[in-house]
Amino acid sequence: PTHPHSQAHESAVKHVTGRAAYIDDLSAPANTLHVALGLSPVAHGRLTRLDLDKVRTMPGVVDVIAVGDVPGHTDIGPVFPGDPIFVEEEISYVGQVIFAVAAENHRAAREAVQAAVVEIDEQPACLDPVAAAEREEFVRPSHVQQSGDWEQALKDASFVVEDEQFVGGQEHFYLEGQACLVQPTEDEGVVVFTSNQHPSETQKLVAEVLGIPFHAVTVEVRRMGGGFGGKETQASPWACIAALFARRTGRATRVRLPRGDDMRATGKRHPFHNRYRLGVDEQGVIQGGEITVIGDCGYSPDLSDAIVDRAMFHSDNAYSLGDARVTGHRARTHTASNTAFRGFGGPQGMMVIEAAMDDIARRIGEDPLTVRKRNFYRTDHQTTRRDITHYGQQVDQIGLLHDLVEQLETSSDYWERRRAITEFNAESPIIKRGLALTPVKFGISFTAKHLNQAGALLHVYTDGSVMINHGGTEMGQGLHTKICQVAARELGLDTEEVRITATRTDKVPNTSPTAASSGADLNGQAARDACMKLKQRLFDFAHEHLYQDQGLDREDMRLEAGHLVAGYGESERRIPWGELIQAAYLNRTSLSEKGFYATPLIHYDRNVGQGRPFYYFAYGAAVAEVSVDTLSGEYQVDRVDILHDVGDSLNPAIDIGQVEGGFIQGMGWLTSEELKWNDAGRLISDGPATYKIPTYGDLPPVFNVKLLEGHPNSMASIYRSKAVGEPPFMLGMAVWSALRDALASLADYAEAPRLDTPATPERVLMAAEALRAQY
Ligand code: MTE
Ligand code: MOS
Repeated sequence: PTHPHSQAHESAVKHVTGRAAYIDDLSAPANTLHVALGLSPVAHGRLTRLDLDKVRTMPGVVDVIAVGDVPGHTDIGPVFPGDPIFVEEEISYVGQVIFAVAAENHRAAREAVQAAVVEIDEQPACLDPVAAAEREEFVRPSHVQQSGDWEQALKDASFVVEDEQFVGGQEHFYLEGQACLVQPTEDEGVVVFTSNQHPSETQKLVAEVLGIPFHAVTVEVRRMGGGFGGKETQASPWACIAALFARRTGRATRVRLPRGDDMRATGKRHPFHNRYRLGVDEQGVIQGGEITVIGDCGYSPDLSDAIVDRAMFHSDNAYSLGDARVTGHRARTHTASNTAFRGFGGPQGMMVIEAAMDDIARRIGEDPLTVRKRNFYRTDHQTTRRDITHYGQQVDQIGLLHDLVEQLETSSDYWERRRAITEFNAESPIIKRGLALTPVKFGISFTAKHLNQAGALLHVYTDGSVMINHGGTEMGQGLHTKICQVAARELGLDTEEVRITATRTDKVPNTSPTAASSGADLNGQAARDACMKLKQRLFDFAHEHLYQDQGLDREDMRLEAGHLVAGYGESERRIPWGELIQAAYLNRTSLSEKGFYATPLIHYDRNVGQGRPFYYFAYGAAVAEVSVDTLSGEYQVDRVDILHDVGDSLNPAIDIGQVEGGFIQGMGWLTSEELKWNDAGRLISDGPATYKIPTYGDLPPVFNVKLLEGHPNSMASIYRSKAVGEPPFMLGMAVWSALRDALASLADYAEAPRLDTPATPERVLMAAEALRAQY
C-alpha cells in the first residue's frame, strides 16, 4: 500500500523525460562567452613566467584574465583563507587555476589556453598525509576529544586491539559537472545561475571578488544534477571567474568544466589514515584507548576543520569507547583541496571502530554481530556509564538502535544464513562467502552552530495558489517536494497547489549550505513557521469579518482539505480556500509571510572537546552477503538487507530512494571507486574509463530496504521526522565488513585481515594471499 506522504519528486517527470533544466540547458543571449581554464601541470612550484599575449590573439578570444585582473579579493577561501582564485606565485596542486580565457565558443576558448607560455620552477610535491603529519604540515591545528583516563583503560584491559588503516577518498561524480551562467546587470552587479549547494556563500565570494556589495549579486539555483557535497564550497570559483568576465565585457558568460578538468581541479572526499589502540575486556567490550585520524586535506583548509571533527565525532559509531582519547590531524598535501562529501568525514571516522569490532570478534572467537551488540551504547550499564560519547553527548534513543538491529537480524535471517555460510566455506576452498551486519549512528546538525538556521518566504496569490521559497537547494534529494508537503499540510491543501521556484538569494537571504542532511529539518521548520504565522492572520481575519456574528470559537478554526473550517458538528462552517483568500485580499490582509528557524539545545566547546553538537542521532543497519573468488580477488554482493530510521518519515518513497542511493554510493566508495595519482601528483583516474562508480549491474540481486516504523524522533524535529541524506551512505560498510568476513574464513576465523579501502579485487586478492601464506 502506498503511504499518503509518498508523493513523487516534484521534478520526477521532468527528470525522466529530459525536460528538467540544468545549467547548460538554460537559454542565454547569443553573444554569451564561454570560458576555458589554464590549469597547473605541476603539483608544487613557483610560477616564474606567465605570458598570455599569444592567447589574446587566438581566434574567437574576447578576454583573458589572471590574478592581476581581479579588482577585489583574490582569496576565495570559504571559511578560512588559503584558496587563491588564480595562482599568484605559489602553485599547490595539479589542476590549480592559473588563468582563464573567455571566447565566442567553448572550443575556441580551450584551444586558446594551449597558446599560453607558462614557466614554473618545480619543487618536490608532498602527497603523503602521514609524512605531512609527522612534519606537522597541517592546514589547521589538531584537535583532541577526551573522556576519562585512556591510558589506565589500556593498562587494565584483558587485551588490546591495535592496527592502522588507509581509507580512500572519493570523487563526487555528480552527473552534472560544475557549471554556471553569469549575466551582468545594468548597475555594477551580476545574476549568477549555478549548480550549487551554497548560493549565499557564492553571492558573498562573487561580491568580494568584484569588490561590490552583496546586494548587487543575486544567485539562483533551480536544481543540481547531483551535488553530494562537491558543490558546497567548490561551485564558487567558477561563478567568481564567470562574474569577472561578465563585468569586464558586459556579456553573459558560461563556465562548464569538462569532466577531466572537473576531476582534476576540484577536491574530493578526504582520504584518511587512521590508527587505533583499544583496551578490551574478556567479553570483548571496549574499555578505552586511543584513536588518531589523519585527514588528507589537500593544499588548503576549505571545510577540513569541520570534516576532520566529524570524523572524530563518529569514530565511536554506535559503540561506547569507554575512557578514550580521539585526536584529529589535518594534513596538508599537494592535491586539490578535499571537501565535503556525503557523511562529511563521518564515514572515514566510523571505519576505525568497525575495523576494531571485527578484530575483537576474531580475538575472542565470537560472531562479529555479537561483539557489536555488546559494545552498543546502552543505558542498562553496570559500573561505568555507557550512554555518553567521548565528546560528552548523551546518546538519545539508543534503545531504538537495539530494536532496529534485532528486527533486522530476524528479517534478514542472519543466524540461519551464518550457519549456512560457515558450512559452505568449510567445503569450498576457493569461493568464500562472507556476511556482516553493521550499524550506523549519525549525528544530525551542523557542528558549526551558527549554520543551524533557516528562512522561508511564503506568498499566497489571489487565485489561492501558493508559492513557498526557502534557503535550501534541490540536488535530487527531494527537498523541494518535502517542503511543498510541509506547506500543503499546514495550509490544508494538496501539494500540487503549492509550488517552489528556484532558490534565490534575493528571496531568502543569508542561508546556510544545503548540507549536513539538515535541509528538510531546518527549512521545513522555517516553512512551517511562515505557514503558521499566515494561518493565524487568516484566522484572525475570518473571526473578525466572516464569523463574527456566529459565535464561532477562534481556537476551533483549522485549514483542512482545501477549506477553512470553524466549529464542530451542527455549527460547523466551511469556506473554500480560494474564497477565503479573495475575501482576505479585499479586506487588505497581507497574504505573504516569512519564516525562520534555529535549532535549539546544541552547543560544542572546542576548547575542551565537549558538548552536545547534535540535536539528535539517526540510526540504521545493513546486512550484506558477498562471495569472493579468493584466487582472483573478484567478488560479488549477493544480498543486502537494510532497516533504516527516519523517525516519522516526511515522504517514505523519497526516503527509501535516499537510503538505496546512499548505500550504493557508500558501497562504491569502499569497493570499486579508486582514486590514483602518479608520483608527480597528477590524478590519473580522471574520467569514467579509469574511475569506476557502481552501475546498474552492481545492484545486489536481492536488495531489501525498509524504513523503521513506530519510532518518531524523540526531539521536536519537523513532524518528528529525521534527516536521511547522509546516514545511509555509511550502511555501505556492511559490504566491506562482509568481504573481511569472507577472507577471515581462510584463517579459520582466527584473524580478520587488514583490508584498506577501496577494497578492490586487487586488495582483496593481496589480503587473501597473505592469509594463505600464513595458514
Ligand atoms: N541525493 C541526491 N539525489 N543528490 C545529492 O547530491 N546529496 C547528499 C544527500 N542526498 C545528494 C543526495 C548530501 S551530501 C546531503 S548533505 C544531503 O542530500 C543534502 O540534502 P538534505 O539536507 O536536504 O538531505
Ligand atoms: Mo553533504 S556532504 O553535507 O553536502
